[in-house]
Amino acid sequence: MPSPVISATGLWTPPNSISNAELVASYNAWADNWNVENAADISSGLLEPKTHSSVEFIEKASGIKARYVIDKEGVLNPDIMTPRIPERPNEQISVLAEMAVHAARDALKRAGRDPKDIGAVICAASNMQRAYPAMAIEVQEALGIEGFAFDMNVACSSATFGIQTAADFIRSGNARSVLVVNPEICSGHLNFTDRDSHFIFGDVATAILVEDEAIAPAGHWKILGSRLKTQFSNNIRNNFGFLNRAAPDGIGTPDKLFVQEGRKVFKEVVPMVAEMINGHLGELGIEAGALKRMWLHQANANMNRLISSKVLGHEASDAESPTVLDTYANTSSAGSIIAFHLHSEDFTAGQKGLICSFGAGYSAGTVVVERVG
Ligand code: COA
Repeated sequence: MPSPVISATGLWTPPNSISNAELVASYNAWADNWNVENAADISSGLLEPKTHSSVEFIEKASGIKARYVIDKEGVLNPDIMTPRIPERPNEQISVLAEMAVHAARDALKRAGRDPKDIGAVICAASNMQRAYPAMAIEVQEALGIEGFAFDMNVACSSATFGIQTAADFIRSGNARSVLVVNPEICSGHLNFTDRDSHFIFGDVATAILVEDEAIAPAGHWKILGSRLKTQFSNNIRNNFGFLNRAAPDGIGTPDKLFVQEGRKVFKEVVPMVAEMINGHLGELGIEAGALKRMWLHQANANMNRLISSKVLGHEASDAESPTVLDTYANTSSAGSIIAFHLHSEDFTAGQKGLICSFGAGYSAGTVVVERVG
């Protein structure tokens, strides 16, 4: 049976970054304006005044210091508070597909792979820009890839679910080279007027080339095993679907955007993920101490500290569990792949690591890899 490996990964980062200080200043200006506009209802007790957001809270509660976004101006304008991404004609490549193509080209270049050698494209991400045609087919067309392509969405876990799906195509002989892309415009489904969550997300795109080991370039990563898990929860939810159209002003009504019970997510997901990692390592007969690194989903630094303690038995060093959410924030499915992409060069043959994603669904995925050659 063919053996699936990760041949290369790719990353595309938007040019604009927003610091916590910039984000908080615009939120606070919006909140002050809102309080003035609603002064009568506030003084009669009908409405609660909006309180200020704080840089200190954001950094302490989440570990996030900045985020990249597609459109900085709209997000930071207190009169807009949402990204303004101009609609493109159907003849032009869509924004989400374009981001994916950038990341894909990076991965293909690193693997020395020609698009004509790819057999399938999977767009595995939290939010597709449209219902159909599939984003993946547009990416396939833009790159000149033959074969087949489709979209899949398992929220923050989409990338690991995509890796396992691609690996299964390799094992079954349905493809020899599969491109998985994770374009995430998280700013498009974040409510920047919600103090509890306005700081959480950023935009980015990653790509993963999963291939038959027989054709893989030197320096690839053997997939020793992958496990997926889902368990329904309403604690992280986004109702912004085709049945829930945008308000007439073009801005989605707040309750149709991302909402979460952050505390509950923290409490429920940490043990679920730690147990899953320990179980998967046990099945593979790999001691946690034998892992050189864990590339964990990037949602919350405290959450990752706890998960890695439960797996390693001690607090992980930066080298054992690197953080990218300080500069990228939560980029949904792409987070663990950014960490893997930016922090894996130092691996030598035989060293092992773990890619782990988790999030809405709930959903979680673990992929254990070993550096080859
Ligand atoms: N600025 C200042 N204070 C804020 C604030 C902000 N932006 N947002 C909330 N607060 C306040 C709250 O009002 C609350 O005040 P109170 O104690 O007076 O009621 C206090 O800070 C604590 O709020 P809480 O929401 O309980 O904070 P937290 O420590 O749970 O951190 C998250 C919030 C979202 C960072 C954290 O829960 C988290 O990251 N959870 C996991 C989320 C996750 O992984 N989601 C997956 C998404 S895909």
